[in-house]
Amino acid sequence: MTEFFTMEAYEAAADAIRQRATLKPRVGLILGSGLSSLAESVTDAVRVPFSDIPHFPVSTVQGHHGQLVIGHLEGQPVVVMQGRVHFYEGYSMAQITLPIRVMKLLGVETLIVTNAAGGLNLNYVPGEVMIVRDHLNLLGMAGWSPLRGPNLEAFGPRFPDTNDAYTPALRELARKVAIDAGVPYHRGVYICLAGPNFESPADVRFLRTIGADAVGMSTVPEVITARHAGMQVLGLSGITNTLCGEEGAPPPNHEEVLEAGAILVPRLETIIRGVLRALAEG
Ligand code: HPA
Repeated sequence: MTEFFTMEAYEAAADAIRQRATLKPRVGLILGSGLSSLAESVTDAVRVPFSDIPHFPVSTVQGHHGQLVIGHLEGQPVVVMQGRVHFYEGYSMAQITLPIRVMKLLGVETLIVTNAAGGLNLNYVPGEVMIVRDHLNLLGMAGWSPLRGPNLEAFGPRFPDTNDAYTPALRELARKVAIDAGVPYHRGVYICLAGPNFESPADVRFLRTIGADAVGMSTVPEVITARHAGMQVLGLSGITNTLCGEEGAPPPNHEEVLEAGAILVPRLETIIRGVLRALAEG
């Protein structure tokens, strides 16, 4: 397991992709669990399996395809990560976030990240979208920051700001698209835990108390790495289940999660397509 990568490693990964695809992507998309169907709609697509790219981490989780798809979506040159790896799989923070830095080297200016999340906010219902307003970086606070280790100045500064980690203009654009399309949405705070276990009732009450609206096992390391490198970020959580925090309450039910996923895929796709269209026009 590589804990830190050199600039040469990032360049080697970017070069391998450039040899397969000549298009320079402007927008990078990371599609989370069960949300990867949008990658099928990319036109003029070149598909590069993660396993063909030097240093790229390959997901061990079912439902995460593991390829880069480079092409056009709603008139935008995009690179889509169909599947991602998680910290709980045993990868280092540097491995999890390597694709973000590689996207930066390919020319990506805007990152759109999706995830499946559990609703902590009692107003949330499975199937709803949360536009991420901010995050709680519990892993980072405990020492697991993706920026720990030698700082590569070519990407960004040693002590980057994380105000407005989720670009206000993109959040507003996503909100407008959701309203116009009649997609129910919330704006809230996402918290990333390492997983892979789901939260205990006491965990749920703690997370709610510290100000989190939704909980998942991804996104925050990638967003911090993207912001460090000066990228604009939009984060979208699909609420697949809700967590009440009462002892004895039934655990997240698999059927319920699948049902919510089926509702969420078209809703997230509508928002992403609308945002991409607006970016292509702007
Ligand atoms: N907890 C953590 N991660 C998740 C959940 C959850 O309830 N649902 C989907 N991802």
